[in-house]
Amino acid sequence: MPGLAVIGHPVAHSRSPDMQTAALTELGLAGEWTYGAIDVAPEDFEATVAELAAAGEYAGVNITVPHKEAALAMADEASEGARAIGAANTLSFIDGRIAAANTDAGGLLNSLSHPLEGGRALVLGAGGAARAAIWGLADAGARVDVWNRTAERAETVAAELGARAVTDADPADYALIVNTTAVGLGGEDPFEHLPLSADSFVPGQVVVDMVYTDEPSGLLAAAEAAGAVTVDGLEMLVQQGALSLRIWTGEEPSLEAMRAAVRR
Ligand code: ATR
Repeated sequence: MPGLAVIGHPVAHSRSPDMQTAALTELGLAGEWTYGAIDVAPEDFEATVAELAAAGEYAGVNITVPHKEAALAMADEASEGARAIGAANTLSFIDGRIAAANTDAGGLLNSLSHPLEGGRALVLGAGGAARAAIWGLADAGARVDVWNRTAERAETVAAELGARAVTDADPADYALIVNTTAVGLGGEDPFEHLPLSADSFVPGQVVVDMVYTDEPSGLLAAAEAAGAVTVDGLEMLVQQGALSLRIWTGEEPSLEAMRAAVRR
């Protein structure tokens, strides 16, 4: 029975097993495959994963913050994206070897309805989530600008990943805006912290907010009111999870089943 699990942050812990189990059930694999949650402290991360890989009962694991960099570091091989981003959210155990991938970038791209090639994208933030977004968007041919509260971090990340750092931005210039910062998580007003104003969105533009909230975030509510297309953090969770499941099982999971489980 191939086992799968998520290792990391409690927010993903509470949603990922239900979502992945719903997908496995829909695929008719739930009797054969299992997906659970494993809690480990950062200091025990490497030993725990090494044990799971060696045991032969696990096909792989999803990794969330704060372990994604450590996951890449301990892998025997890694996808180009995982290497460029500097972090892995998906590990596959193949004959005792560990292969790392990062489906956060592909998950973002798959959540967009329009092709991006040549379009302008604004990424807000410069942490791990931003790195995956910037790499994925640049790889898909978008021209990516990066804004961050601490401007030096934006400059470093942009230089490394082929994007451009900006200290100010007019949202109307962008086909896509992606918030990867934690702003909005505590219910604070995003327009006090980000270089955007509530009336600056334009119809047809795509606005992504990676913050996980059950209600639309303040950012997405304003974007939607302006006629923009919105994508929330739970959709991102579903999309990256679907890509991970595809890597492990070779099957195409039902996004509908995963969405229903994650929003339940
Ligand atoms: P992750 O790896 O999940 O992306 P992170 O590295 O902690 O997390 O990054 C969090 C991001 O949210 C950073 O870009 C941070 O900006 P700083 O680099 O200036 O710290 C951003 N962030 C957090 N709180 C913020 C706030 N109140 N206003 C603006 N940006 C904020």
